[in-house]
Amino acid sequence: SSTPAATLVLFGARGDLVRRLLVPALYDLRRSGLLPEAFLIVGVDRVEGDTGNWRDSLRDFLAETTRDPLAEFQATGIDAEIWNWLAGRLEYVRLDFAESDGLAGLRPHVSGNAIFYLAVPSRLFGPVIGELAKAGLLDETPASFRRVVVEKPFGLDLASAQALNRQCAAVMKSEQIFRIDHFLGKEEVRNILITRFANMLFEPVWNSRFIDNVQISATETITVGTRGAFYESTGALRDMVPNHLFQLLSLVAMEPPTSLAGAGLSEARQALFEAIEPVQPGDVVRGQYEAGVVAGEAVPAYRATPGVDPHSRVETFVALKLHVDTPRWEGVPFYLRTGKAMGSRVTEVVVTFRAAEALAEVKGADRPNRIIFRIQPDGGVRIGFEGLAQGPGLSKTAMVARMFEREFSPVHPDVGYEALLYGCLHGDHTLFQRADNVERAWAVLEPVLQAWKDGGAPESYSAGSDGPAGARELLARDGRAWEKATETDGQVGS
Ligand code: BG6
Repeated sequence: SSTPAATLVLFGARGDLVRRLLVPALYDLRRSGLLPEAFLIVGVDRVEGDTGNWRDSLRDFLAETTRDPLAEFQATGIDAEIWNWLAGRLEYVRLDFAESDGLAGLRPHVSGNAIFYLAVPSRLFGPVIGELAKAGLLDETPASFRRVVVEKPFGLDLASAQALNRQCAAVMKSEQIFRIDHFLGKEEVRNILITRFANMLFEPVWNSRFIDNVQISATETITVGTRGAFYESTGALRDMVPNHLFQLLSLVAMEPPTSLAGAGLSEARQALFEAIEPVQPGDVVRGQYEAGVVAGEAVPAYRATPGVDPHSRVETFVALKLHVDTPRWEGVPFYLRTGKAMGSRVTEVVVTFRAAEALAEVKGADRPNRIIFRIQPDGGVRIGFEGLAQGPGLSKTAMVARMFEREFSPVHPDVGYEALLYGCLHGDHTLFQRADNVERAWAVLEPVLQAWKDGGAPESYSAGSDGPAGARELLARDGRAWEKATETDGQVGS
């Protein structure tokens, strides 16, 4: 169906998210012909400025980071036609919702269908939603929708997420709210579902009889950098685990949904979330980076980052073990980890099978089968298996084959926001979080948040390393080790 006309209001228009991810995603959507002709983008922020300089700053950023192959011979990397189309639809409105008349000043800029996108710090979600309601901007008519997109983290713990959900429920219908988690928008993440449920190869062995353990990693080389203040109130656990990593977990571990559209998928994800056993503090390791070298560049310690308390106990790394209490996963541990300023940038899920009972004559190191869903940086599905070693005999060698690889959007390699903005324009909640999803995710982590509040401190690790020693011990204790990304790479090797 064609995309309805709409006004997209971006709160936090001068912020990082709008410049770095949302505007590039809009550029991609336009390039694919997926935006309606009647489309307006209203940027709202309290920073002084006007439409002209907002537009220029967005364009400069886009030009720096875009490599549009169709614009190869132009001075910048962006396609002038696509940019001009977008630029003509941009409008900047300087507004501070905390001022006395709140968001009344926004009314003249919004008519008909509208999406209010809250690209602001999470502590402002409640206040902005309150002001939108007060200004009457959330009132729908039979002819026009009003939708609110809320970024993450949705709350900072169970109680605050519940309060925010209650506040949303008081001022709008549940269909009006879209809780975003951009991992669900990534093509490589959605591909986990198709791989599992559209093939006969995997489902029969997708259980504790054949699978030994599952590892979910999102290691990043970027540092906290300019996001010190945000990070101090969030930390690695809240920033990545109950949202991004749990999305990966839910897609890998859920029972087959009754349908991949709408409620079917949400129900299956929620059932999985319900089955995650609350995480025990003893199964969690937190780390904080010290000064070090990442990709040849010297990086200062987290505590030396602008906006960060020099004695901060906020974690920049977290590793944990959890269990999913369903017959399918009985006794199978799930290991999750994520961190900043690490040695390599890899987001992947590694499903490791039990060791085969090979014939005694088949010589070579024991490498169990693995199925690897690589999300980043080079997406694809890989399989680790044993093959014949070169030579005259019958010995084996470990191989990794790429099963699935695709060129995604050549412009911005799939940030994930394209599919979600498109879904929201169409009123499709399939790839968004329900209220019960976010509350259950926080409930699972509540014992950990509680224990951390009571004290303790993160272990340190050097920037550029693979995290604190405790993370290795967490697996060593079970006789296991973290997968090394190099071993899950697609080259055939021994
Ligand atoms: C964001 C987090 O939601 O996701 C960031 O706030 C993190 O800290 C980012 O770097 C990771 O997303 P991606 O798409 O770069 O893997």
